[in-house]
Amino acid sequence: ALERTFAIVKPDAVKDGHIGEILSAIEQGGLKIVGLKLTRLTADICKGFYHEHVGKGFYPELEAFMTEGPVALMVLEGENAILRWRDLMGATDPAKAAEGTLRKRFGASIGRNATHGSDKPESAAFEVSYFFNAFEQV
Ligand code: CMP
Repeated sequence: ALERTFAIVKPDAVKDGHIGEILSAIEQGGLKIVGLKLTRLTADICKGFYHEHVGKGFYPELEAFMTEGPVALMVLEGENAILRWRDLMGATDPAKAAEGTLRKRFGASIGRNATHGSDKPESAAFEVSYFFNAFEQV
């Protein structure tokens, strides 16, 4: 099915200058960028976004990391876009990610893992609408 999914270039990858390579991998992978913005997450915005993880042991570290610098936020569109974006990223833990995937290339650890992608259609709908209104998606 034609899907939209939500993507983040996390603060580590922005700081390391990998926005261009990640956008390039998305386009080369056949996904269309239909929403794009550069911003910073506040602690409150981060809590709302990662509401499923608030209260977990790693959440404080996740929030500190996600608010440490600018992020690039995107809406991606394509056939099976959710799974295809996850395949381009690779496993959450860069050490377990396949060769050539974005997290293998640019991630340092399970916490500092360069990119985020929605895991299922319900999350994609929530995550896209959390950051992008209709006029911000072409
Ligand atoms: P992400 O796909 O953005 O969703 C939640 C994030 O929490 C995940 O990527 C990881 O970067 C981060 N995280 C940090 N520590 C852990 C952990 N122990 N288990 C799972 N996720 C973790």
